[in-house]
Amino acid sequence: MTLGPFTEAEYDLGPARLRRLAADEIAPLAAAIAAIDPWARLGYPESSIEAFFRRLDAGTYKFAIDRDGAVVGAVSVRHPFLKGPYLELLAVLPAAQGKGIGAAVIDWMGREVAGRDRNLWVCVSDFNEAARAFYRRQGFDETARLDDLTLDDATELFLRKRL
Ligand SMILES: CC(C)(COP(=O)(O)OP(=O)(O)OC[C@H]1O[C@@H](n2cnc3c(N)ncnc32)[C@H](O)[C@@H]1OP(=O)(O)O)[C@@H](O)C(=O)NCCC(=O)NCCS
Repeated sequence: MTLGPFTEAEYDLGPARLRRLAADEIAPLAAAIAAIDPWARLGYPESSIEAFFRRLDAGTYKFAIDRDGAVVGAVSVRHPFLKGPYLELLAVLPAAQGKGIGAAVIDWMGREVAGRDRNLWVCVSDFNEAARAFYRRQGFDETARLDDLTLDDATELFLRKRL
């Protein structure tokens, strides 16, 4: 019996597995995420990404993305959010990109709430052209522009996928 969406300790997504992060995996993962855009360009220090993964938050479900036993990224989902879950972090590290992992994560989110929720939500920086193209391809539409949310002169786009 499942306790609800996103509550399992592990999910097999095909091209990768989602599982809990071990304590000693958090610092190297945070360093790798801080080194890539959009986090690098937005100026998120490694320490704040590490604190994000260590923070206990009953409303979020955080997972390592594991491919063949190696941590190749991370996912954090906030649920419930707005008639559906909010993907608050999706990072597939460069060596694992383009292998269908991101698409599998979006499919999984939709499956977890199918028949119960109406939407999936995510924010993407306007300068992050690659991720914008990715989310478009996954069926997300822009619903709002959030100017100066993280930095002055940087806009976040609030995206919605209708289920
Ligand atoms: C954006 C990101 C999540 C995509 O995940 P991924 O595992 O690399 O993407 P996938 O391999 O699942 O690609 C799925 C589809 O999106 C397309 N896609 C992926 N990256 C793309 C890009 N840079 N430009 C255009 N299309 C892209 C793929 O071609 C594929 O299309 P298909 O369904 O026709 O085959 C991942 O590259 C990433 O984490 N990037 C860095 C961090 C980031 O920007 N995160 C999002 C922050 S909101």
